[in-house]
Amino acid sequence: MSRAAAGGLTVRPARLDDLDALVALEHATFATDRAERRAIRHAILSKTMSVLVALLRDDDGACVLVGAATLERRRNSRSARLSSIAVSSARAGLGLGGRLMQAVEDEARRHGCTRLRLEVRSDNGAGLRLYERRGYRRFAVRESYYEDGMEAWRYERLLTDAESDPALGRPRQRRSG
Ligand SMILES: CC(C)(COP(=O)(O)OP(=O)(O)OC[C@H]1O[C@@H](n2cnc3c(N)ncnc32)[C@H](O)[C@@H]1OP(=O)(O)O)[C@@H](O)C(=O)NCCC(=O)NCCS
Repeated sequence: MSRAAAGGLTVRPARLDDLDALVALEHATFATDRAERRAIRHAILSKTMSVLVALLRDDDGACVLVGAATLERRRNSRSARLSSIAVSSARAGLGLGGRLMQAVEDEARRHGCTRLRLEVRSDNGAGLRLYERRGYRRFAVRESYYEDGMEAWRYERLLTDAESDPALGRPRQRRSG
């Protein structure tokens, strides 16, 4: 499959009936620091969090959940945090992670956020590549951040520089709101 396989992708806010698929994705993609079912349910219902799901149609025409990302916002803050992103390993490397990041950034902008921050394991090659390709810059390190003692690298990107969006390489219109 090529990156074009990401073409039929739909990204939408998660619903409670996505919960089983979200829990399965969480268990399949994270070996440590997994979110529990209750926490995912809480995030779907939260007013300050956005859970986005990525769906593709399988050969039978059924929609399959192939990725998800969670954005956290704080009241009275223009800084948002990507607390999780995952793509099904069967669909890795097709550009779905990039499409989800674009949707997360659009969602943050829609809520008036001007900065997106995240933490990533320093040994997560795919994650580092995904973020750096989209213009995220490392600004801090957190020692022993993960359950297994691995450090986190903290990354951020301003969302106000849409005209020079490195992921798009061309001017784009900002959504209002
Ligand atoms: C990180 C993740 C979301 C990326 O999703 P994806 O759909 O594969 O992402 P994309 O296809 O858009 O891009 C991945 C990039 O990483 C690269 N990559 C993939 N595996 C890699 C590896 N092991 N080492 C280095 N780079 C890697 C790809 O080549 C691609 O870079 P390119 O565009 O320059 O070719 C996915 O790998 C994942 O779910 N991992 C497990 C969960 C996780 O680690 N989440 C991040 C927590 S911070």
